[in-house]
Amino acid sequence: MTAITADLHARIEQLAQIQSEVLGAGVTREIYTPAYTEAAELVAGWMRELGLLTRLDAVGNLFARWEGTEPELPLVLTGSHFDTTLDAGKYDGVLGVLGAVDAVRQLQAEGFQPRRTIEIVGFAGEEPRFGAGCIGSRAMVGALARDDLDRMRDRRGVSVAEAMRGVGLDPDRIGEALLDAEQVHVLVELHIEQGAVLESDGIPIGVVEYIAAPHDYRVTLTGEARHAGSTPMTMRRDALAGAAEIVLAVERLATGSHSGTTVGTVGILNLTPSAVNVIPGEVTMDIDVRDSDLAARTEVTDALLREIDAVAERRGLALDVITTTQDVPAACDPLIVAAVREAAAELGLPARGIVSGAYHDSMVLGSKVPIGMIFVPSVAGLSHHPDEYTAPADLEHGVAVLAGTLRRLAA
Ligand code: GLV
Ligand code: MN
Ligand code: MN
Repeated sequence: MTAITADLHARIEQLAQIQSEVLGAGVTREIYTPAYTEAAELVAGWMRELGLLTRLDAVGNLFARWEGTEPELPLVLTGSHFDTTLDAGKYDGVLGVLGAVDAVRQLQAEGFQPRRTIEIVGFAGEEPRFGAGCIGSRAMVGALARDDLDRMRDRRGVSVAEAMRGVGLDPDRIGEALLDAEQVHVLVELHIEQGAVLESDGIPIGVVEYIAAPHDYRVTLTGEARHAGSTPMTMRRDALAGAAEIVLAVERLATGSHSGTTVGTVGILNLTPSAVNVIPGEVTMDIDVRDSDLAARTEVTDALLREIDAVAERRGLALDVITTTQDVPAACDPLIVAAVREAAAELGLPARGIVSGAYHDSMVLGSKVPIGMIFVPSVAGLSHHPDEYTAPADLEHGVAVLAGTLRRLAA
């Protein structure tokens, strides 16, 4: 391990100690919590150690600026997120922020002077605390309205606006987070793969070509909550039995998709009243369908909506379906793909093209600015899991390739 990697490892461990609540063996650090603010202060301190100028924007995105010799040129943005999903790993997102800090440290140590300004960004709320993820980057591209901040709620019913106020941010100022796309040359994001392609191929660097995008729905089925002992099977309108059919339909339709790359998940299921002796009267379920092939994803979601209608109709359940997220798959820019490939080749590191099954803030910013991503292997392809792990050598490779990429893009 080099000194830089040893530091990076230590910092990843230090950040992992800061949690908004403890749900298991993993890390839980949700956006707009005191723990997140504490983490942001720690990260900002590491950025300032390098002489970078830090600022927090109106939605809570953290920026650190390394001014170029021609600061009027569109800048190079690099970073990721340091919030986590529930009971998660230590590396998802965190690597892209702390790795960017280390890449800048490495470039400074080499005596490199960027022509374009380099800004490191820690995007706020990439993980979907409020149903949809990428709050910080959505605000930057103008895809998050003031009304959304009251409408979107977390699992305890807290709105984005309430949570923002709780950490001293003013939701009425959300518009100030809007990015001037003309001012951004590129965004490059370093991230763990979260899949097993690199590991199984024995290749240390993934050059992302496409980012798959989700279409998420919140489905509410309402039947009748009645006595579980005295209501005959023929007299029931069981919302959970209907939901169970839908769960299996999601699995079947995604598995049978013609692209071969569609994935479908029901990750949230809430039932009311949730008592052992009451037939479930109402179920809310969150469904996530993704693909890098938009046509295939649409075929699956169209078929799914038909099945959901049919299940509700047959079982006499009232139905409400809303879309919570509907993103478009993003293609990475050839300029950045080439820069990443050159940076890897310069270091003698084998690299391969790869598709990201996970979404990222890069997907959101991809609608406005050229984007690119660098992946490093995830052991056993495990992510959104306490055992998520990337070996120190792979962290080091990722940082070195990011540094080489930034050197090319900012020169
Ligand atoms: C991001 O965390 C995702 O769910 O892909
Ligand atoms: Mn994640
Ligand atoms: Mn992530």
